[in-house]
Amino acid sequence: MVQAGVGVAIAASGSAAPIAALTNDQLSTIVETSDEWIQTRTGIRSRRLAQSEDTLSSLAAAAGTAAIAAAGLSADDIDLILLATSTPDDLFGSAVQVQAQIGATRAVAFDLTAACSGFVFGLVTAAQFVRTGTYRRVLLIGADVLSRWVDWSDRGTCILFGDGAGAVVLQATDGRDRLLGFELRSDGQLNHTLKLAFQGTPQPLTAGVTATAGRYQPIIMNGREVYRFAVAKVPEVISKALFRADLATSDIDWLLLHQANQRILDAVADRLGVPREQTLSNLADYGNTSAASIPLALDAAVRRGQVQPGDKIVAAGFGAGLTWGAAVFEWGVVET
Ligand code: UT7
Repeated sequence: MVQAGVGVAIAASGSAAPIAALTNDQLSTIVETSDEWIQTRTGIRSRRLAQSEDTLSSLAAAAGTAAIAAAGLSADDIDLILLATSTPDDLFGSAVQVQAQIGATRAVAFDLTAACSGFVFGLVTAAQFVRTGTYRRVLLIGADVLSRWVDWSDRGTCILFGDGAGAVVLQATDGRDRLLGFELRSDGQLNHTLKLAFQGTPQPLTAGVTATAGRYQPIIMNGREVYRFAVAKVPEVISKALFRADLATSDIDWLLLHQANQRILDAVADRLGVPREQTLSNLADYGNTSAASIPLALDAAVRRGQVQPGDKIVAAGFGAGLTWGAAVFEWGVVET
């Protein structure tokens, strides 16, 4: 059922992160690295790590609850919860646990997996439900606890990742649609460059039939290849999303990239001609929080008063899959 004239607004945000922090100096007692190397190559100073009491669903629920409150709604108002994560507490999905924890009894809830692009893919997915008139209020959460899956002896990856959750509430409006344009991409040919893969061995069950038992292996990444991919492909997908929105880079107030590496953020901003001061970053204190990174950085900027209602933001995610995508939107509910 398509309802004509229903627009979507990205109305409010919330976020949550574990309290425990791991600094670069502390990391350098675990692997052969240094604060100087990590800061110079990535811009990261510290990252938050989930402790045993910080489950994926508890972080996601805290971020979701904050976003619902910021929107002036109650949990009962939410029609759909979309949880973008690659690190659920339960492989069957964690969105339903979040639904129970926040008490959103009316909401249908499911997970969406697109690694570090999860939030942007989720934003576009959520908007389709609103635009068709199917759901009026959607809670979109990006949350990850990649620290569970990091090889803490691999200095090429363990320095990068942190844990956290960020959320936004999307609402139906009778007025303008504030998701102005988007472009999503996938390339499974490059899957080998960044993986958190299942590895199993066949267990014989009966003649000619086996079942494969095993476990997921820690993250493996070809950092240089992923870096090159991001710097080449992210400006391209942003330009495409801006074209679809009929906007120029100069119309954008904020560039909000997946927080992977400050050098990637700077290189993409430079290629697009976006001044550094219009690029949002929280990398120094959080590292790469995967699906959480964009909404975490957005929420911090909103709470600082940096991002204002009506501001035009281009958000871009990129990562495992490989997946990448950009969405151009206007922040907040602003009637014009
Ligand atoms: O969320 C999604 C995606 N992930 C990313 O976006 C990651 C993208 N890639 C990156 O951010 C960067 O490639 C890294 C930060 C992972 C690595 O930085 P780099 O500048 O590409 O370093 P590199 O891998 O080219 O390594 C340069 C040198 C090597 O030594 P040699 O071979 O030149 O002697 C590494 O062994 O730095 C060494 N190295 C380190 N040294 C100290 C690698 N990791 C470390 C470390 N501390 N932690």
